[in-house]
Amino acid sequence: MALQAPEGTKDLLPDEAVYWTRFKAIATEIFGRYGYLPIETPVFEQTELFVRGIGEATDVVSKEMFTAISGENLKKLLDGGTVKAKSRLSLRPEGTAGVVRAVVQHDLVPQGAAPAKLLYAGPMFRAERPQKGRQRQFNQVGIECLGAEEPSVDAEGIIMLMRFYAAIGIPVEATRLLVNSMGCDVCRPAYRDAVKAFMDTHTDELCDECKRRAETNPLRAFDCKNPGCAAVMEGAPKITDHLCDDCREHYEAVKTYLTGAGLVFVEDPTLVRGLDYYTRTVFEVQVTEGMGSQNAIGGGGRYDKLAEEVGGRPTPGFGWALGYERCVLALEAAGHTLPAAQRCDVFVACVDDSVRAEAFSLVQALRDGGLVGEMDHQRRSLKSQFKLADKLGAHAVVVLGPDELAAGQVKVRDMQAHDEQMADLAALKTQLAACAVEGGAAALKDVLARLA
Ligand code: HAM
Repeated sequence: MALQAPEGTKDLLPDEAVYWTRFKAIATEIFGRYGYLPIETPVFEQTELFVRGIGEATDVVSKEMFTAISGENLKKLLDGGTVKAKSRLSLRPEGTAGVVRAVVQHDLVPQGAAPAKLLYAGPMFRAERPQKGRQRQFNQVGIECLGAEEPSVDAEGIIMLMRFYAAIGIPVEATRLLVNSMGCDVCRPAYRDAVKAFMDTHTDELCDECKRRAETNPLRAFDCKNPGCAAVMEGAPKITDHLCDDCREHYEAVKTYLTGAGLVFVEDPTLVRGLDYYTRTVFEVQVTEGMGSQNAIGGGGRYDKLAEEVGGRPTPGFGWALGYERCVLALEAAGHTLPAAQRCDVFVACVDDSVRAEAFSLVQALRDGGLVGEMDHQRRSLKSQFKLADKLGAHAVVVLGPDELAAGQVKVRDMQAHDEQMADLAALKTQLAACAVEGGAAALKDVLARLA
């Protein structure tokens, strides 16, 4: 049997790969207006970074990480040996820990400097059970802002994410923005104890996993999908009743900015998110219909302690990531189909073999002129060359025939207007070559219009 892509992965075939490139370009453009610049970090990091950064007790770290191991080290392990801590590597399950590591390593936020506003896009890896909208390799676009703790950073981050969804075509009415505050080192420990105490009085009603969570990470119980646990946790103490004054003030300011920007949001005091680094603001964007259970198209929050966790000096941070594949599902749910990639501006067709060399040189001139030019490479009949040109979406077909060519003439068919004109080859070449200077495919339309 032919080999298949690994479970939980998805090939981005050309139409979609072109869309992914476009998606990243829109992100770079929109987030660039807010001062975010690209950063690229490795797809694997020391396992220790994720353990310290994301938290050992999280599902992402304890169950879902792919370990990357060199052949040499694997042999050592199989022989009963050990490998050095710095050689223990994992594929990144998310981008924040790596970006914060890079910020600390390269001192991107020296004392007194403006915040570092960073943008990334690329694959993340989580060994989750695959289902619709949940893959083992998926693509995220994310932003991280380090060095500023003002609530305006959180608010502008959320606003630009919502602007992005609208820009790619996900209707705002199809989304739900959930916000919460997770408190800080001052107020969360007492809240955690309150939730644990509450869970201890309901032990018999909790699943085994939540019984364990009560000991290790009680707040994670808010995310349990077990209906019994969900019913119990409904009655649990709410973080918003336990915030310290500073956290409350920060949370109120974020909400005021969001409201001022015209965003509609829902406060969800049970929103805890699956990564341990969050402090204060957390949020998630869900799509309300047509997505199944994996309906979160993005989420994030503030992480004021993460830089210290990975060995840096105190540096507050805020960020989020959106899931590319889930955005595509959301677009489909909203009735959009991805645009097919434009494969051809001008197709050069040959009446017979004697004109192939001339066709080859014309196609080359088109490409040098900035147009997408194509010709037949399979010795097709003229009729099937036209079919191919149509399939490739060509705007025009230039037909080279031996008799016409002898007179320096070619036939040009405008594929949209369905009309044909004779044109002087030398003049046409010059006009087409100028298209790049004048603006590619748009200028081609002018050339066709002038012929008609
Ligand atoms: P996250 O909520 O784990 O946050 O992931 C962000 C988004 O990635 C999700 O909302 C979802 O759209 C997508 N996603 C997550 N897991 C999968 C999966 N298995 N298959 C497909 N899509 C998935 C983070 O990753 C944080 N690093 C966000 C952040 C940045 N917080 C602060 N800065």
